[in-house]
Amino acid sequence: MSAADKKTRALELQEKLTRYNRQYHIDDNPEIPDAEYDQFFRELQHLEAEFPELQTADSPTLKVGAAPLDRFEKVDHRMPMLSLGNAFGEDELKDFDKRLKDRLKTSAAIEYVAEPKLDGLAVSLVYIDGLFTQGATRGDGSTGEDITPNLRTLRNLPLQLSGAPRGRIEVRGEVFLDKKSFARLNREQEKNNAKVFVNPRNAAAGSLRLLDSTITASRPLRIYIYSIGLVEVDAELPSSHWDTLKWLSDMGLPINDASARCGDVETSQAYYEKILRQRDALDYEIDGVVFKVNRLDLQAELGFVSRAPRWAIAYKFPAQEMTTRLLAVDFQVGRTGALTPVARLEPVFVGGAMVSNATLHNMDEIERKGIMIGDNVIVRRAGDVIPEVVSAIESARPADARLIAMPEQCPVCGSAVERLSGVAVAKCTGGFNCAAQRREALKHFVSRKAMNIDGLGEKIIDQLLERKLVTWPSDLYSLTREQLLDLDLVKDKKADNVLQALEDSKQTSLGRFLFALGIPEVGETTAEQLATHFGSIDNLHEATLDYFIPKGISGIGNVTAQAIIEAVGGSTVDKARELTTDYTAEQISEWLVQNVSGLKAVAARKLVARYPTLESLRQVDANAIRSQPSPTVEGVGEIMAAHIVNFFSSHDNLQEIDRLIKAGISWPDIASVEEPEDGTKPLDGNTYVITGKFSGLSRDEISAALQSRGARVTGSVSKNTTALVCGEAAGSKLTKANALGLTIIDEAELEKMLSEN
Ligand code: IVH
Repeated sequence: MSAADKKTRALELQEKLTRYNRQYHIDDNPEIPDAEYDQFFRELQHLEAEFPELQTADSPTLKVGAAPLDRFEKVDHRMPMLSLGNAFGEDELKDFDKRLKDRLKTSAAIEYVAEPKLDGLAVSLVYIDGLFTQGATRGDGSTGEDITPNLRTLRNLPLQLSGAPRGRIEVRGEVFLDKKSFARLNREQEKNNAKVFVNPRNAAAGSLRLLDSTITASRPLRIYIYSIGLVEVDAELPSSHWDTLKWLSDMGLPINDASARCGDVETSQAYYEKILRQRDALDYEIDGVVFKVNRLDLQAELGFVSRAPRWAIAYKFPAQEMTTRLLAVDFQVGRTGALTPVARLEPVFVGGAMVSNATLHNMDEIERKGIMIGDNVIVRRAGDVIPEVVSAIESARPADARLIAMPEQCPVCGSAVERLSGVAVAKCTGGFNCAAQRREALKHFVSRKAMNIDGLGEKIIDQLLERKLVTWPSDLYSLTREQLLDLDLVKDKKADNVLQALEDSKQTSLGRFLFALGIPEVGETTAEQLATHFGSIDNLHEATLDYFIPKGISGIGNVTAQAIIEAVGGSTVDKARELTTDYTAEQISEWLVQNVSGLKAVAARKLVARYPTLESLRQVDANAIRSQPSPTVEGVGEIMAAHIVNFFSSHDNLQEIDRLIKAGISWPDIASVEEPEDGTKPLDGNTYVITGKFSGLSRDEISAALQSRGARVTGSVSKNTTALVCGEAAGSKLTKANALGLTIIDEAELEKMLSEN
C-alpha cells in the first residue's frame, strides 16, 4: 500500500469506527461483531503509529487513553457549575412548585422535565466546531481540573458531534459506572490486592481522576448529558429544556432516555414514585429525581439563589447508606445450623426505615471488610434487601475496637461449631438437638411453599417448643385442641383453624413434601424436580452419589468408545504404527486422535487425564468411557447430591419421614420414570419435560397424567424430548428447547391433548 493509500485507509477506518462506536454505545444496535471492530481498531492504531499526524483529535483510537500526565491543569468554568436545592418528600416538592408560581405570579400549571439523578461525577465538556476539545471536573464550581484524555475514553461519548453548528458548545453531564461494572471492577481490584471502592460513585470519581488515562480506558465509564453550559454558536437555540435535550441527542450526545416531561406537580410526584419503584432494577445508581422548569424564558425569569437555580430541584430518595456504630455481633443459627454473624447497631434511619440489626454475612466477609466491634460502619438498606454492613470507616476506629470472633460453641445449644476449611460458613453440629435449628426447621416445614399450614406463626411455634409439645415436625399432627387453647393468643376459632390447616396439609404433593423436609440446599424447584424424576421417596432414598454424577467422558459416543478400546488393545492396528507402553499421556492422546476416527482432541485429552497410561487404558471397557445419557437431575450438582444422600442416610431423618407418613401425609402417586410402561397407551414412546408454573394442574399432576398415558417424563431437555410442556415464567429449559427446535406445549394445549388421549 502506498503512503497515500494508507492515509485514505486511515480516514476510512476512523469514520467506520466512529460510526460503530455510536451504534454500540449510544444506539445499542451494533452492526458488526466485536471481533471485527477490534481488527479495524488495531489496523488504525498501526497506521497512526506509522503516520502520527493522522491521529486527529477525534480519532477513535484516543479512546484507549494517552500518555500519562504529571498533574492536571486547572480549568476556569466560564459559566459556573452550580448545585441544586433539595426536596425530601411530597410536601417539599409542592412547596417548591408553589414558590415558583408565587414568584411567576401565576396559578397555571408549570411544566417540568424530570431526569433521574445519577449518582456519579459532574463534568463539563467543550466542543469546538463539533470537535471534543476540553473536558473538566466540576471542582469548586468555578475552577475544575482538565481531564480531557480521561473523558475521551468514555465509551458512549462522541469525540465528534454530528451536524453541529460552527462555534463553541459546552455541555454538562454525569459520569458514572453501572452497578455490574462496579461489582466486576471491585472483584478485579480485590484479586490484584488493589483498593476496593465503597460505591459506584467513588469508583467513577477515582477512575476519572487518574493521571494515566489508559487505566481510565479500561474502566467502562459512561456519561449522560443533562444540560448545556456556555454556548456560542451562529444558530438559534431551542426555547425549552426538553428541546435542548433533543437537540443534544440529535448531535449524537447520550441523553438518559428515562427523562420525561411532566405537565404539573402532581405528574411530577407520580414520576418520582415510579422511578423510586424501579430504582433497584435500574443498572445504575440514582439518588433521586431532578425536576427542571421546561420553559427557558421562565427559567430566566426565576433566576438563581446563591449557588443554585430557583428553577430546578433535586427530589431525593431516602438514603440507602448511613453511618452508625457497631455495638456488638451476635451469631444467629439457621435451619441447617449455619451461623450468621448479625450486627447490633446504634439505631439509624436508612432506606426509609429504622435499622438496628444488619447482616455481616459470614466470617470471610468480616475479614475482607476488616470490620471490628466499636467501629463506625456504613449500613446499607436497599429496597427489600436485608440491611447489611458495607464497610468500616477505619480512619475513625476507636482505640478500644475489638476483633470479631466466631464462637467455638453454638450460642443456642452449646454443641461444637464446625468450620470446614475452604468454606465460609461455620455450622452448629447440634442438628435437631439444637433449639434454633428445630425452630427454623418447623418454621420452614409449615411455610406456604412447603406444607402450607396457616396459623402456625413464629409466636405459636416458640410456645410449642418451649412447652416441649413439639420437637419434630411430625409432632404437630398429634397436637390436641386443648393443648392449642392453652397457648397464649390462641382462642377457639384460632385453634380450630390450626387443626383444620394441619388436616388439610396432609393431602400434599411429593415435591412439597420433599421441600418441607428441609434437605440442605434443596429449594422448591429442585424438590419438584426430584419428585418428578424419582417418583417416590423410596426411589430417591435408594439413589447413591454415583447416580447423580455424570459418568463416562463427554464427547465419546458408543462407536468411538468401542474403537478406542480396540485400538489400545493393539490387535487391529498395523504393527508399524502401534501404540507402546512408554508413550506419555500426551502422546497417547495424540496417537488416539490420529488413529480413532471421530475422536476429538478435547475428548482424547479428557480420556488420558483419567487414564494416563496405556496399562490403565487397557483395563477399562467401552461402557466406562462412553458418555452416558446423564441420569442426573437438573440443578443437582455434586454438593447438593451429597446433601441428599447424606440426608437419607440419617436414621433420625428416615424415622421422621416414617412418622410423617404414619400421621397421614400422602400425595398422588407418580409412576417412576425408571419403569417404562407396557402395553399400548396413547402417548407410548413420547418423552416430555415439564417446566414453569401452571395455573390449573400442579407439576406432579401433569407428570402423573402424562405417565398414566404411557409417556416418559424427564428432568432435562434433549434432542430426544418429544415436547416441552411449558407454563409461566419458564427459564433455561425453554431456551434450550427453542434452540433444539422442539415442540412447545402450553397449558391450554396440554389440557386439550390430555382430553383427547
Ligand atoms: S442539573 C444548574 N441534572 O447533581 C443545574 N444535575 O446536586 C445543576 N446530577 O452536581 C445540575 N443528575 O452532579 C442536574 N439530571 C441532572 C443530574 C444532576 C445528577 C448531579 C450533578 C450536580 C448535582 C447537583
